[in-house]
Amino acid sequence: MKPGDTKAVEEMFNTISSKYDLFNDIFSFGMHRIWKKKLLYFLNPKFGEKWIDLCCGTGDMSILLAKYMESSKNITGLDSALQALSIARERSEGKYSSIKWINADALDTNLPSEEFDGLLMAYGLRNLSSFSLGFREALRILKPGGRAGFLDFRSFESFTLEGLFQKLYLSIFVVPVASLFGLGKEYSYIKKSLTNFPSGSKQIHLALSVGFKTAEYKSIANGQMGILLVTA
Ligand SMILES: C[S@@+](CC[C@H](N)C(=O)[O-])C[C@H]1O[C@@H](n2cnc3c(N)ncnc32)[C@H](O)[C@@H]1O
Repeated sequence: MKPGDTKAVEEMFNTISSKYDLFNDIFSFGMHRIWKKKLLYFLNPKFGEKWIDLCCGTGDMSILLAKYMESSKNITGLDSALQALSIARERSEGKYSSIKWINADALDTNLPSEEFDGLLMAYGLRNLSSFSLGFREALRILKPGGRAGFLDFRSFESFTLEGLFQKLYLSIFVVPVASLFGLGKEYSYIKKSLTNFPSGSKQIHLALSVGFKTAEYKSIANGQMGILLVTA
């Protein structure tokens, strides 16, 4: 599967949705929760603010957001994969049932402009067919002064030990383990999706070029992950 093929990406995430959370725990040794909490810590969403989790998948980040804000009101989770969303809806029943789940494309959400105080995206950006269109749509739905954070893998253009570790981690650990569950092809997509994915200063440049007022990039997880923080 080629990165940027929106329909194929949607089908792939529908296929892996039932194993997605289990695999996240296995492949990150549970650390993905710490990285997601770090994103929340940097953004510091406040009670009463209106937030959206783009590319919410099975709802992990939206629920962490609700826990952080001590309220699930004013939170929207949006994803293009229906099956991932139905898991999200099930998971949020009860305590987090006020979270609104929307099936839509993050590049063209159909949501009103200047609607949200804050926006986040965890491991979604890399999957979009256009990073700049993704940033543009995020900027459009944020209120002026609104803040956003994008958490994803880092990519490495030239040889570094961190890049070597990532390559080995994906090819020796992630893909073989996923293959045991018949999902090797789907998980080999992670490596492909990183080929043209900008990191660090390139993400900053892209975000500023679409109109975000400020942008900074923080490397976390021993340089394996990155968080882009922007203000509208
Ligand atoms: C790697 S998962 C991340 C899920 C969740 N944010 C998390 O961190 O656990 C990427 C998600 O992005 C969604 N996605 C990819 N392209 C999208 C698009 N154009 N619009 C909306 N969702 C998209 C996929 O369906 C998938 O659920």
